[in-house]
Amino acid sequence: MKISVIGCGYLGAVHAACMASLGHDVVGVDVDEGKIAALQSAAAPFYEPGLNELLADIQARGSGESATDGGHTGSLRFTTDLAQIAGARAHFVCVGTPQRRGENAADLRYVDAAFSSAAEHLAPGDLIIGKSTVPVGTARRLAEDLHRAHPDVRLVWNPEFLREGHAVTDTLHPDRLVYGIADDADRDATAAVLDEIYAAPLANGSARLITDYPTAELVKTAANSFLATKISFINAMAELCEASGADVTELADAIGLDDRIGRKFLNAGLGFGGGCLPKDIRAFMARAGELGADQALTFLREVDSINMRRRIRMVELAREVCDGSFLNKKIAVLGAAFKPESDDVRDSPALNVAAQIQLQGGNVVVTDPKALANAEHRFPDLTYEPDVDAALAGADAVLLLTEWKQFTGLDPEATGALVRARRILDGRNVLVPATWRAAGWTYRALGRP
Ligand code: UGA
Repeated sequence: MKISVIGCGYLGAVHAACMASLGHDVVGVDVDEGKIAALQSAAAPFYEPGLNELLADIQARGSGESATDGGHTGSLRFTTDLAQIAGARAHFVCVGTPQRRGENAADLRYVDAAFSSAAEHLAPGDLIIGKSTVPVGTARRLAEDLHRAHPDVRLVWNPEFLREGHAVTDTLHPDRLVYGIADDADRDATAAVLDEIYAAPLANGSARLITDYPTAELVKTAANSFLATKISFINAMAELCEASGADVTELADAIGLDDRIGRKFLNAGLGFGGGCLPKDIRAFMARAGELGADQALTFLREVDSINMRRRIRMVELAREVCDGSFLNKKIAVLGAAFKPESDDVRDSPALNVAAQIQLQGGNVVVTDPKALANAEHRFPDLTYEPDVDAALAGADAVLLLTEWKQFTGLDPEATGALVRARRILDGRNVLVPATWRAAGWTYRALGRP
């Protein structure tokens, strides 16, 4: 099928590449020339495992360099010219919905602009498919606007559940596909177009649910709110573990064995960051307020506070370990990305902690395998060091804040030979305390004795 993808950020670039790999003819559009130039040369403008390989593979197929399975191989091109979406039958809108400056609500200006400018190039029978995370009620409003000019174009809300770092696999093998469709006569025909697009994942067992618009929008925000709540729940338990001398990792293992609870997303530590969970729970609260249902989500305020408290606690713990002051101390911070296997530093807990320690007089050096360029852009006043050994050299304390394999696999003896004082703070509860303590380290963590 001919498909367009409007917005080629973390979501859109992956979606475009994955749809092409499923055999569709895809055009990806973005206003950012640098991004488009990078994607055209099969080099994603951000780090996402498997994406560059996928882009190169599709390019090679296009130039006939690799064998195909005999079916249509799909094609992929990127452009800044929105007019080139004309002729596609399905148009995915994948633009960002960041938090509004100084407010909790989502900023819908990119979604609104994408819909209104795309409208100029739509033809009767086209399907426009919203994938961005939006406040409930947005799809209905967009559909009303759209139908004034294009009564023959249908809108579907099809939220995306991919995780950064696993985006390609999550897009090709989603656990569920949700189609939010207007309650009208064309419901089956609309679903059939999406079924054709997603034929491969559906054949591989992805569940498919057809809902109305508001339910589809809520599935996304409810899922992210649940995940954030799960993380803050275990981090609240970590606070209790700290107060009582218990171990939150053992607690999580034990309660996680109850399959009604499950062990996933019960990793206590520095808490959640990134471009999704923090802003999505805030936007959800703001929207609930607009709908007169703010009481339903007051607990999310607590989820947010528990999460932010972990960052403050980490700084306190580091100061405690540094004998009460960061002055004239070198603090090696391992990790800048909000999570491993990503170069995304949006609302990164690691960088937040690093910046707080620097403000309190510490000589902070941050290292990360992929995220330093983005970190430097966002926090230009911090010191960055790509070489882990150099970052560790002479450190008075080591803070492991993003659990990259490079850091979780560090050897206590070899690391000990580099630092000035053997003090390590495990912000993600990923090290074995006994191993580090046996090598003479002061080991401290959040929620563990
Ligand atoms: C999240 C959701 O997991 C996706 O399903 C969703 O599609 C995406 O947001 C989105 O809305 O686009 P993502 O932000 O990529 O995905 O990352 P997660 O894997 O959810 O991690 C979020 C944060 O929670 C990270 O900072 C991570 O370190 C933290 N986390 C995660 C914990 O602190 N503990 C855990 O047990 C799990």
